[in-house]
Amino acid sequence: MNYALVTGATGGLGRQFAYLLAERGEALLLTGRSAEKLASLREEIVSRFPKSEILFEPCDLSDADDRARFFAKIGALRFSLLVNVAGADIQKAFADYTREKLLFQARVNFEAAVDLAKFVFEHRGDSLGVLTVSSVSGLYPMPYFALYSATKCALTSFFSALHVEWKGVASVTTVLPGSIPTREDVKAYIAAQGLWGKLAAMPPEKVAKKSLEALKRNKRTYIPGFWNKLMRAGTALLPLPWKMRFIAARWSKTEKDAF
Ligand SMILES: NC(=O)c1ccc[n+]([C@@H]2O[C@H](COP(=O)([O-])OP(=O)(O)OC[C@H]3O[C@@H](n4cnc5c(N)ncnc54)[C@H](OP(=O)(O)O)[C@@H]3O)[C@@H](O)[C@H]2O)c1
Repeated sequence: MNYALVTGATGGLGRQFAYLLAERGEALLLTGRSAEKLASLREEIVSRFPKSEILFEPCDLSDADDRARFFAKIGALRFSLLVNVAGADIQKAFADYTREKLLFQARVNFEAAVDLAKFVFEHRGDSLGVLTVSSVSGLYPMPYFALYSATKCALTSFFSALHVEWKGVASVTTVLPGSIPTREDVKAYIAAQGLWGKLAAMPPEKVAKKSLEALKRNKRTYIPGFWNKLMRAGTALLPLPWKMRFIAARWSKTEKDAF
């Protein structure tokens, strides 16, 4: 039996991937930091899809030692799919970060995804798909959201390269969503953006469904939603300093540090 490994499964977007994959009859290995949250997610999914084969194993993906323990524990399994969802959207001026926070965010957002890609590639079954959740926030450097933006840019770059390196061996798709109303603070942020927020936001179940379709078509990158695609096309030719001034004005007024 080959497993679909979903990281960030306990979050707003990750749980939608888990539900959709269970509905498709995939055997699942779910991970997040909390064993309690993972157990209750497993119960929810099994109550809806009683034939589901679901394993779970907690792991703090920002911690290389815990990842090594996790890999040793699941090393006997074979994988058909990796869905890289786990991420931390800490947002603040770089000068205000503690060293602990910046390493945490860099490691969970980028280092862990790279490590997981290597692991599943070496433990793949007959076929392999790798789907990674990046963000439109990685399209341009974002003052006051600099580390998040840089990790998402790095994810898009790295997995786009793997899309070519692994041609014929594995499908590799990177998804760049705009806003997704998952946590309460994200919903409040979307509401505060008015009409644009409303237009550009996409429900997590739809983002997950469209992302899996993009992986099936082996798209290199995929931006869910008409308005997000339009934003990307409409801003592509604007000079970068203008874009960064606009971005700085917007993000310098807020701060988010939920992790
Ligand atoms: N929501 C949006 O507007 C939006 C837009 C674009 C891209 N994204 C990206 O989509 C992904 C999911 O976002 P979301 O809105 O669903 O966020 P969320 O609800 O906050 O979920 C984040 C997930 O990541 C897991 N996680 C965080 N730190 C971890 C760590 N150190 N080790 C292991 N797991 C960890 C969390 O698990 P536990 O807390 O249970 O450990 C949780 O399952 C993220 O990568 C985010 O950057 C989101």
